[in-house]
Amino acid sequence: MKILVTGGAGFIGSHLCEKLIDQGHDVLCVDNYFTGSKDNIVHLLRNPRFEMMRHDITFPLYVEVDRIFNLACPASPIHYQFDPVQTTKTSVHGAINMLGLAKRVKARILQASTSEVYGDPEVHPQTETYWMRDNTIVPRACYDKGKRCAETLLFDYYRQHKLEIKVARIFNTYGPRLLPVDGRGVSNFIVQALCGEDVTIYGEGTQTRSFCYIDDLVEGLMKLMDSGAEITGPVNLGNPVEFTMRELAEMTLKLTGSRSKLVFRPLPQDDPRQRQPDITVARSTLAWAPTVPLGEGLKRTIAYFKSML
Ligand SMILES: NC(=O)c1ccc[n+]([C@@H]2O[C@H](COP(=O)([O-])OP(=O)(O)OC[C@H]3O[C@@H](n4cnc5c(N)ncnc54)[C@H](O)[C@@H]3O)[C@@H](O)[C@H]2O)c1
Repeated sequence: MKILVTGGAGFIGSHLCEKLIDQGHDVLCVDNYFTGSKDNIVHLLRNPRFEMMRHDITFPLYVEVDRIFNLACPASPIHYQFDPVQTTKTSVHGAINMLGLAKRVKARILQASTSEVYGDPEVHPQTETYWMRDNTIVPRACYDKGKRCAETLLFDYYRQHKLEIKVARIFNTYGPRLLPVDGRGVSNFIVQALCGEDVTIYGEGTQTRSFCYIDDLVEGLMKLMDSGAEITGPVNLGNPVEFTMRELAEMTLKLTGSRSKLVFRPLPQDDPRQRQPDITVARSTLAWAPTVPLGEGLKRTIAYFKSML
């Protein structure tokens, strides 16, 4: 198949492009390099099954494809709050453009949504049926409201135009090719530990997160895309094993052998206290569950950052 991956030069997108090529598909990677980089895909450029196009998805795109993975959007708070208007445009105009393309060429489309659509959740773990606690006026709203609107658009195209849609709600994912300084917990801790700097924890570090290794996540996205047309999602994709940020920092110090110290800073506004996916739907409809434990995934990620730094 000819498969379009928007945001294909980013962290998740570049791993997805690789796996799709391994499966024998032709991949068209579209990216404006806002947070992605050529380094992430340089090893694919000579592959005849791979094509790269510099393009901003807030503008229409006319190509012939069978499937679309719509991943383009900055994912870390530093980047999505850098130009919040562009972030909303990427999610909303980007989704409209990709849905228009999917409708024209009758392609199946998968939207990379996020656990952030659950806001600061009152139910724990989060199921897909939870309707979310919402604040429209805070700085992170440009990201999660944009993603929520994109979900709505997908379901409207599904009902109105009978498009084949898939919505994945992705929870914290980590692994090689995360950017070293983008404010995400795993990469921050590893880089600080490897550089011998203080390891910064926001708040007391008791807030919890669940961390999914990139290979597991990519497998989940591919299974969702390949699932029967009746499966639209939303489907939570993430690792349900929960850790506090302090536990993550301590594990990172141990695995890097670093002597860095933990330091505590004030919590940013609206930082969710808990995040843990309920993956019952993914288990039952996709026969998917993560297999890489945090310790193992961290080792692979630390090896990547060591070679990079
Ligand atoms: N990594 C996670 O933990 C996580 C969690 C939840 C959801 N997601 C979602 O998964 C997707 C990929 O995330 P990631 O972690 O790989 O982030 P990333 O920042 O590494 O990748 C995003 C890619 O999109 C590109 N991009 C941004 N705006 C664009 C635009 N207007 N036009 C074309 N390309 C554009 C960037 O250059 C980058 O290559 C995002 O949609 C994100 O919201 C990721």
